[in-house]
Amino acid sequence: MTRFEKLKSQIDPKKLPNHIAVIMDGNGRWAKKKGAGRLYGHKNGVESVRAIVEASVEIGLKYLTIYAFSTENWSRPEDEVKGLLKLILDSLVNEIDQMSKNNIVVRFIGSNDNLSLEYQKKIQDECKKSWNNTGLNFNIAMNYGGRLELIDAIKEMMPEIISGDINKDNLDEKIFEKYLYTSDIPDPDFMVRTSGEKRLSNFLIWQSAYTELYFTDILWPDFKKEAFLEAILDFQNRNRRFGGV
Ligand code: FPP
Repeated sequence: MTRFEKLKSQIDPKKLPNHIAVIMDGNGRWAKKKGAGRLYGHKNGVESVRAIVEASVEIGLKYLTIYAFSTENWSRPEDEVKGLLKLILDSLVNEIDQMSKNNIVVRFIGSNDNLSLEYQKKIQDECKKSWNNTGLNFNIAMNYGGRLELIDAIKEMMPEIISGDINKDNLDEKIFEKYLYTSDIPDPDFMVRTSGEKRLSNFLIWQSAYTELYFTDILWPDFKKEAFLEAILDFQNRNRRFGGV
């Protein structure tokens, strides 16, 4: 039995998180340790994405969301930004058929601001190929920022408040959530961040109100299937009370 199979056998399918969100951090530091440029780290990070997507399919996870590019990432050096945008699109183009064969539904969530129409269309056209699938829902947060998501939601909702279609006295969490990028995605039960940083960094800030958090020192390009299953086993030992007793 491989170590992966052993870990997999320890997972209780009844206590599997429904939705795992992942902050993939540490690509730059990983590359630096190898004396290479930051993009080399991101390229190797894609291999870890493949690994956790495969593991997610193998264990029957329903939702997986990764933080690929944040609204704050535009402030990185131009070469890195360009490289990341290209890497994300190229990875999607290269992997979509294989993902589709594995019954995966691929969606991008985030803002369109600053992304060219051509880029948006390419992403949309690739993702669409997977939309008849019924297996793992794989969400890629791209040009995503949690605060911007809330502002965007308010902007979308405002005309309906003004027209009276929504009565402001009836506005509640359920109605508000319909205007988020994640309107048809359940809240994550579990969030993993690699590389030793212990922050949310503007990721799914509304949706993670009751999410269990998990931090590991492993740098993202070294985070593979086994580390992912270890994180899930940690989750299964937690006692979730949602503010109750
Ligand atoms: C954080 O590491 C990582 C990112 C900002 C980019 C992650 C993106 C990928 C791995 C590509 C995703 C691809 C697909 C398939 C959609 P960092 O650069 O902040 O590392 P550091 O903190 O060590 O500098």
